[in-house]
Amino acid sequence: MKRNHFLKSLIGASTFLGLPFTSFSKLNKQQIQERIRSLQQNIRGDLVGFSVDPIKKVRVGIIGLGNRGKILAQMLHWLIENDKAEIVGLSDLIEGNVEKVIQDLNGVQKSKPATYTKNENDWKNLVERDDVDLILIATPWRWHTPMAIYGMEQGKHVASEVPIAYTLSDCYKLIQTAEVTRKHCMMIENCCYNDEELFVLNMIQKGVFGDLTHAEGAYIHDLRKHMLSEDYYQGQWRIQHHRNRDGNFYTTHGIGPISNYLNIGHGDYYSTLTSISSREKNLSDAAKRKGSPFTDIKCGDMNTTMMKTAMGKTVMLQFDVHTGSPYSRINKVVGTGAVHAGYPSRLYIDNPEELKYWGHNWLSDEAYTDYKEKFTHPLIKKLKSISENYKQGHGGMDFVMIYRLITCLNKGVPLDQTVYDSITWSAITPLSELSVANSSETVEFPDFTGGTWKNDRDLEIMRMLS
Ligand SMILES: NC(=O)c1ccc[n+]([C@@H]2O[C@H](COP(=O)([O-])OP(=O)(O)OC[C@H]3O[C@@H](n4cnc5c(N)ncnc54)[C@H](O)[C@@H]3O)[C@@H](O)[C@H]2O)c1
Repeated sequence: MKRNHFLKSLIGASTFLGLPFTSFSKLNKQQIQERIRSLQQNIRGDLVGFSVDPIKKVRVGIIGLGNRGKILAQMLHWLIENDKAEIVGLSDLIEGNVEKVIQDLNGVQKSKPATYTKNENDWKNLVERDDVDLILIATPWRWHTPMAIYGMEQGKHVASEVPIAYTLSDCYKLIQTAEVTRKHCMMIENCCYNDEELFVLNMIQKGVFGDLTHAEGAYIHDLRKHMLSEDYYQGQWRIQHHRNRDGNFYTTHGIGPISNYLNIGHGDYYSTLTSISSREKNLSDAAKRKGSPFTDIKCGDMNTTMMKTAMGKTVMLQFDVHTGSPYSRINKVVGTGAVHAGYPSRLYIDNPEELKYWGHNWLSDEAYTDYKEKFTHPLIKKLKSISENYKQGHGGMDFVMIYRLITCLNKGVPLDQTVYDSITWSAITPLSELSVANSSETVEFPDFTGGTWKNDRDLEIMRMLS
């Protein structure tokens, strides 16, 4: 009932909030803010600290077994071997992808997962099974929200690849569905579990950085080859977004860890956002050179999005998958006591008593190593010997992420990210599109937490589980 009521209340707004924001350049700033604000009253925020009864062995269904889904399935192997999880069903449009995952399970899991490959709605039959606890979603972006919503409506916990949503109406629908169905709805953001990001977070939590003032993150990754290939992304789904939209499409690898650093949702929250995109050149040039039919690219080569938090911290978040810039998530964070920058990881410690540490210089390799040894996150130390065997999962971080998700469910404790975190990180995409379409107009960041961000509370990711 409550969900239906909510969805009705969205009808007026959904046309506005569910479409790419380039269509809204005719609205003035006040109209945009009024419509965004009118939806916020529907969020209760009562899934903060949410947990369910322990699930001794988590029965998993996976939808989408392309590049990413195959890796997620592999990350479950150790947990399957240790009786913590089981893969009961697999769905993909391509039978060969499902077969590959089943082949990989040989010698790992005795039972053979059921398969769902008939058509693009066959995944619903997997979701409707009575013997599934958790649905993992690794499909193209347009499917994440409908699959997650249907999963929760069918009584399943859901964990989706990034981004879990890319329109504001989908953001609100996901929160509302999770609140009404009382199911976990988590976006699995693997970079939060990377050794370097957890090292920085641990130092911040232990006070090394003092008071934080600023952070920078990014997704800078040359995807031209993959986006222009006819074989890499199923049906070339990814480049279609770049033909039709302009903004910061892949926010979460940068903003997930940064949100943990800055205590977003745990005593602070984003308050305003502005976004600017450069002109587009590189992807369309590459498309022409390659003879691709997709030469009409709308998304700028570099998007820069900036945000300010209620407590006055600033964030810069960049997005460039069109140019040859070497890979970077920047991973910079600045405080009164220290600075970190990634690619490669460097640390500056502010120590006015010792002039050799006064500004300008990063720590020596030796001093850096001392900090690394002292502040490596306990989760990384604990899982090192296992995660080292999972190099294909981005050097181990994918394993740590899946281990944490399943272990939290095994133990019946809150997950590391709430639905509110997942939506906050994803919503930056439609907000950036809105700002870009309106000459970089500053927009108020909607409160996706029902006001609960004001409560100081510990980060779940810092809690160790026995
Ligand atoms: N976190 C990370 O590091 C990371 C890395 C790569 C991709 N991703 C994310 O993973 C997702 C998938 O990306 P990818 O590179 O694997 O893409 P992909 O195109 O290789 O895989 C998508 C798969 O989904 C299947 N699919 C599409 N529609 C379906 C439907 N209706 N029912 C069942 N299956 C369906 C396709 O057949 C395909 O095999 C994306 O959201 C992407 O952003 C995350």
